[in-house]
Amino acid sequence: MSRPRVLSGVQPTGALHLGNWLGAIRNWVELQESHETFFCVVDLHAITTPHNPGKLASETLSTAALYMACGIDPSKSTIFVQSHIPAHSELCWILNCVTPLNWLERMIQFKEKAIKQGDNVSVGLLDYPVLMAADILLYDADFVPVGEDQKQHLELARNIAQQRINSRFKEVEKDLLKIPKPMIIKNGSRVMSLSDGLKKMSKSDDNDNSRINLLDPPELICKKIKRAKTDSYIGLEFGNPLRPEAENLLGMYAILSGKSNAVAQQECLEMGWGKFKPLLNDAATSALKPIQEKYKELMENRDHLNLVLKNGRIKAEQTAQKNLTRIRNALGFLPEK
Ligand code: ADP
Ligand code: TRP
Repeated sequence: MSRPRVLSGVQPTGALHLGNWLGAIRNWVELQESHETFFCVVDLHAITTPHNPGKLASETLSTAALYMACGIDPSKSTIFVQSHIPAHSELCWILNCVTPLNWLERMIQFKEKAIKQGDNVSVGLLDYPVLMAADILLYDADFVPVGEDQKQHLELARNIAQQRINSRFKEVEKDLLKIPKPMIIKNGSRVMSLSDGLKKMSKSDDNDNSRINLLDPPELICKKIKRAKTDSYIGLEFGNPLRPEAENLLGMYAILSGKSNAVAQQECLEMGWGKFKPLLNDAATSALKPIQEKYKELMENRDHLNLVLKNGRIKAEQTAQKNLTRIRNALGFLPEK
């Protein structure tokens, strides 16, 4: 029997941070053992806000290396670059033509990012979730492991597939598109900023001290944790709505040290911030050390990285092309002869 299929991706914009790892990539690593897994570096998404052409290629390669450094194994998973497979853009166009504009205008991430862009909002930024739907639907993915913030985009992909494609074209082919399900990890699905426990940790925050990047050296991690926002209570605890920073940093500590929430809370229940922060620092530094070492090693062998991405492209393209042809035929395009 074939294994259920998983697809996910991260944008190669800036450095990946603890949120990306704990909320998404960490989950991918386990799924490799039980699922057929496709992981792409979504570089076409990275140009939906102004980007630096001098950095796009190197950030794409470095994101792929980080996937592998975090434990994505090219002998188990297909790792590829979104823009290397034109079928993503082509299916995006087809889906654009059936997606109501007001579905996109409702997207929270669009509204948040659009505010930051001022007058300069591109059509691409609005269309971002349709391209994401194309990424997923092109591979008949059963599951999409992402952080909490992507849930609304997943819901949109499901609605496009169900209401705008499957029900409209059911006479031609039943269940033309597979309806994907989100897969959201219980702990870590929403890692918050170090400078504000109510704001998501994000690559796009202008303040680098608000996040721990996976490649930050130990001194920098230490500095960022020292500066992290605290409160005036003594003792770390979960579940107190007045203490978002305690919730976030204690949660981070639990995952990074491999302890359950209950054990971590028990350990830190009477601990002041001054004693807790060095603990968190040790946990973060030791968890990131093997990733940083593996990353360095991978980046020293670009030929190998490029080969992994080439093999990934060849494999992903077979599935993508087959499905795109099926969709084109169902929609009535003149077949190529
Ligand atoms: P960012 O929001 O920092 O730009 P991306 O949008 O590229 O990051 O997100 C890549 C993946 O990481 C997605 O699955 C997303 O849900 C997850 N993710 C991003 N930020 C966080 C966070 N703070 N906590 C948990 N998961 C996150
Ligand atoms: N929009 C996702 C994010 O910002 C990235 C993404 C693009 C993605 N295409 C995808 C995630 C397909 C999962 C599946 O995190």
